[in-house]
Amino acid sequence: MTANRPDPSGTRLGDLWRILPEEATATADGVLEIGGVAVTELAERFGTPLHVYDEQGLRRQIRRFVDGLQARWPDSEVLFASKSLPAVGMYRIAQEEGLSVDIAGGGELRLALAAGVDPARLHFHGNAKTDAELRMALDAGIDTIIVDNDDELDRLERLLERPQKLLLRVIPGVEAKTHASQATGGANSKFGLPIDQAERAIRRMQAHPLMRFEGVHLHIGSQILDETQFAEAVEKISTVGTFGTYDVGGGLGIAYTYDEVAPSVDDYLDAVVASAKAHLPAGARLMIEPGRSIVGRSGVTLYRTTTVKRTGRTFVAVDGGLADQMDIALTGQRYEAVLADRLLEPWTETVQLVGRQCESGDLLVDGAAMPPARVGDLVAMAATGAYAYTMSNNYNGALKPAIVFVADGVARLVARRETYDDLLATHAPALENALV
Ligand SMILES: Cc1ncc(COP(=O)(O)O)c(C=O)c1O
Repeated sequence: MTANRPDPSGTRLGDLWRILPEEATATADGVLEIGGVAVTELAERFGTPLHVYDEQGLRRQIRRFVDGLQARWPDSEVLFASKSLPAVGMYRIAQEEGLSVDIAGGGELRLALAAGVDPARLHFHGNAKTDAELRMALDAGIDTIIVDNDDELDRLERLLERPQKLLLRVIPGVEAKTHASQATGGANSKFGLPIDQAERAIRRMQAHPLMRFEGVHLHIGSQILDETQFAEAVEKISTVGTFGTYDVGGGLGIAYTYDEVAPSVDDYLDAVVASAKAHLPAGARLMIEPGRSIVGRSGVTLYRTTTVKRTGRTFVAVDGGLADQMDIALTGQRYEAVLADRLLEPWTETVQLVGRQCESGDLLVDGAAMPPARVGDLVAMAATGAYAYTMSNNYNGALKPAIVFVADGVARLVARRETYDDLLATHAPALENALV
């Protein structure tokens, strides 16, 4: 370990550096730094809860995907699955680093356009797109619509006024080894059409004068740690037919806990491209859509402890909770957290790190090792860069946290914290005048 990544006995810092952002270090007196800025300074300046991103590590991870796929399969495209971090500042970085963007819905479309993403790099997903959203996407001139079902084709028949590129989402029948709510490629998936119904939908698109059918799409799920499942999905999709484009989705998992191991980007790309070389036509365009594996490790959430209660068990409560870490409730995702301002003190206590929402399930870490906590300590939860901000909500009147990106010792605000006025803005009596 280097001096600024210490690993003293009595702590698990050695394991922690593996799941914290690439540009995470410690000051000499044991304060966590991200991108060269101490988290104490970030918390002071921007408040907590706070989503902090290591911008350099994030950009490096994007380039691993873009350069790695390009080197293995030159006619290729990496799409950022923007649902994992739909922030205007993130869309900008995606575009700057050469990613195209997957959007799912009118909201993500508006955010991407506001960020200045070229519509020719936007791909529109969703199993329940509305007429209004399709119209928005068509008016914006987006590149491709990934058609999910026959009703969507009915809508497009009504709405299309000029040629439009389309892919068809098919269900490959691969049961991903992940939480049930994150598996999307098994026989009973609500997303896409089964392979045996794909041919009819493809014929319909091919027969339509304005529909430019380009190929097929699949996505088997999220937080998948076995790269052979992606290879299997590529093989399955090849059985649909010979087309110009194959988009094989996202889903690569990351390490969330001290003991978890995830495939590297290279491992993943090796598996996908070996299968593509074996099963897809040589001249086809290959696309992938990573989300979690791009932004997950780069992000950390900072909390301030508000209560330390010793009742037989030790409960350390913080100023956020499942309102900003929904994955815990939705998928049972496990995380690690540390006292970020006291890293070097021996981690002698094992605590229940809990949030402030009114659910016993609001348990951020079940058994976190840390020094004996005090009110006002700073807690950092690792690997929260994907889907945390996206799914944050107003449970118990919680305010959506702010996002800051940090690089080379400079922090910049990417999304501000919600205010109580934001919370009230959509409600009567704030709307009283509008309602009468
Ligand atoms: C169609 C599609 N593509 C890509 C992704 C990204 O998945 P991940 O964040 O696991 O890479 C998702 C996420 O659910 C998705 O629905």
